[in-house]
Amino acid sequence: MTAARPRVWVSQPLFDDIVARLETHFDVDATREVADHAPERIAEALREADGALVTLNDPVGAAQVAAASRLRAIANVGVGYNNLEVAALQAQGIVVTNTPDVLTETTADFGFALMMAAARRITEAERWLRDGQWRGWSFKSLLGADIHGSTLGILGMGRIGQGIAKRAAGFGMRMLYHNRHRLPEEVERECRASYVDYETLFAQADHAVLVLPYSAQNRHLIDAATLARMKPTATLTNIARGGLIDEAALADALAAGRLAAAGLDVFEGEPNVDPRLLALDNVVLTPHIASGSLATRRAMVSLAVDNLIAALGFGPDAGKPRN
Ligand code: DGY
Repeated sequence: MTAARPRVWVSQPLFDDIVARLETHFDVDATREVADHAPERIAEALREADGALVTLNDPVGAAQVAAASRLRAIANVGVGYNNLEVAALQAQGIVVTNTPDVLTETTADFGFALMMAAARRITEAERWLRDGQWRGWSFKSLLGADIHGSTLGILGMGRIGQGIAKRAAGFGMRMLYHNRHRLPEEVERECRASYVDYETLFAQADHAVLVLPYSAQNRHLIDAATLARMKPTATLTNIARGGLIDEAALADALAAGRLAAAGLDVFEGEPNVDPRLLALDNVVLTPHIASGSLATRRAMVSLAVDNLIAALGFGPDAGKPRN
């Protein structure tokens, strides 16, 4: 009698040709439609699974795995993993993986583009033109803020933060960063970025970019007090997680002209966006697409598939003795 193959659950449609690699080793239960990500549905799907491929839409914690006695691995398709209660999962012996590196450059590209769009009022200008408001070239309309020669403040200097710094060097920006840990001197030199404290970063930045991991501990880190430190001519760009910003305080600051503009790719209540932000012209809003180039999204799925195969014991090192 042959042993039953392990079962793997895939929480949403990804790239079929890549996900098909799982079928070499597992019985795959792949969701075919964009489904709801209700915690109860996830718990039900995990009940009979040995492994799962999930995304940032899928909350998985102690409650979802309580009845999942066979579950051994969860591969998150994404670098951020605030959707997972990692400690609770690991306590149950479940291996948790994510997809760093493969999305660094694409996400840094987008962060830079979003910052530039906010500073130079690109989407606002396009709306104005499409609305038929353009009456001919005019000297003073839609004036924005310069990127070149300005001061960039990067909060979170991991891989993506460093990617943004490298791009900023080409624009002749002065770079400040703040991070949980100061980077080694050679990395600071390579990024041409100087370490400053949190308050100085926001007080001096002409353009501040958020690229730090999110957790319950830093929810609403960017609150009214932080925004009040910023120059009224400054911009704020967020490609990390929406919960980092107190969106009501941000809407107040933007509406009152206490902050020039913002670029937001992430929101606290995704896919819902605060109606006050939607009503403002001086904010560029995009639907969480910073890692969204075709090549990068494919690379993310591919890495997550490799991670799951390895975590369930079928990777290239399977069967080799371990030290
Ligand atoms: C991530 O990977 O965490 C992004 O937010 C989605 O690519």
